[in-house]
Amino acid sequence: MKTKVAIIGAGPSGLLLGQLLTRAGIDNIIIDNKPKEYILGRIRAGVLEQGAVAMLEEAGVAEKMRREGLVHEGFDISFDGQSHRMNLEKYSGGKTVMVYGQTEVTRDLMEAREKAGAITVYAAEKVKVHDFDRSRPYVTFHHVGRDVRLDCDFIAGCDGFHGVCRASVPKGAITNYERVYPFGWLGLLADVPPVHHELIYAHHERGFALCSQRSLTRSRYYIQCSLDDTVDAWSDDLFWEELKRRLDPKIAARMVTGPSIEKSIAPLRSFVAEPLRFGTMFLAGDAGHIVPPTGAKGLNLAASDVRYLFDAFVDYYKGQSVKGIEAYSSRALLRIWKAERFSWWMTNLLHTFPDASGFDRKMQRTDFDYLISSDAAQRSLAENYVGLPY
Ligand code: APR
Ligand code: PHB
Repeated sequence: MKTKVAIIGAGPSGLLLGQLLTRAGIDNIIIDNKPKEYILGRIRAGVLEQGAVAMLEEAGVAEKMRREGLVHEGFDISFDGQSHRMNLEKYSGGKTVMVYGQTEVTRDLMEAREKAGAITVYAAEKVKVHDFDRSRPYVTFHHVGRDVRLDCDFIAGCDGFHGVCRASVPKGAITNYERVYPFGWLGLLADVPPVHHELIYAHHERGFALCSQRSLTRSRYYIQCSLDDTVDAWSDDLFWEELKRRLDPKIAARMVTGPSIEKSIAPLRSFVAEPLRFGTMFLAGDAGHIVPPTGAKGLNLAASDVRYLFDAFVDYYKGQSVKGIEAYSSRALLRIWKAERFSWWMTNLLHTFPDASGFDRKMQRTDFDYLISSDAAQRSLAENYVGLPY
């Protein structure tokens, strides 16, 4: 097989890049080592910046999002019972965010790709990337009983944190920067109406809590949990009880509970790999960086990486220029580090750290007091939450 861009990974990064390339007439093939249904079973964050929304428009997959997504102009943030409305629209100069689940984004992209007739290989085994230090790289994999070789001009490593692309780079050629947080998030999805029309981020001495939503009838809630916790140890009843304890009693009193559709634990991590280009292979999305979910930057960062990478391929194939390809890593990293900073800050502000000193706790509280009393601090939060420019 032969293509221009071999995309490893059919998550949001790979699918969005593939859709933009296909629409621009640039041949690409996507290879994922998981079945399609498995990919669609993953539940992740659901807040889209305007830049990500614009990219979905450009990819021609925004119709359902425009119909079913919820436009949010603000959110609530509370600290030990004191609540404050963050007016995003006011402090960002009129910008908003779109609440629309990543699973839906992935489904919309998969459908559009099928309609366009572009090739996606699901459930590929033993995916390997070769010769990306040269101008003719290739990918090999095993699929329905056959060994396949895919020759290409470029490899786009969109294969997530545990993927094969970053892992194939020689150790001396890559630097990893990482912070692992001493807790996780236990998330629950349920077909119950959201407790509030906007999101609620809450700091409580028992741990962080987040009230999010997928629609007017489907809610997504999270509570900070210990790294040794297991999903089995948390019955739905225990989850609801703990969530309510961490919220304002007035909010908790109107919480509608119900059986979970999904429940999972995710550890929190900040991670950046540098650089993001290795000859003819590029890393994009979770393959190159991870943010803790506080602030919902994961999918949005994947979208900005894809913006820069897609533009680089268009420059190369349509403009006969390698400028975009040469600039990709540094352009993407500049924005990635800013989102890393923001999600690290929001994580520090809102979580309970097991080893925090009295001084640390005073500083955390003061960070909140300053935020809610300062226009400048709220402008900064709003600017980052709605998304820094590309
Ligand atoms: N070979 C082929 N495909 C692979 C391999 C491999 N060795 N390893 C992983 N993959 C696939 C996974 O099955 C997955 O479908 O790569 C895809 C990566 O998708 P995501 O993990 O969703 O990463 P990305 O597309 O970059 O999306 C970023 O997802 O994790 C969230 O918070 C993150 O919202 C952000 C978004
Ligand atoms: C979600 O809806 O899953 C969500 C929303 C906001 C976050 C993280 C996750 O900061």
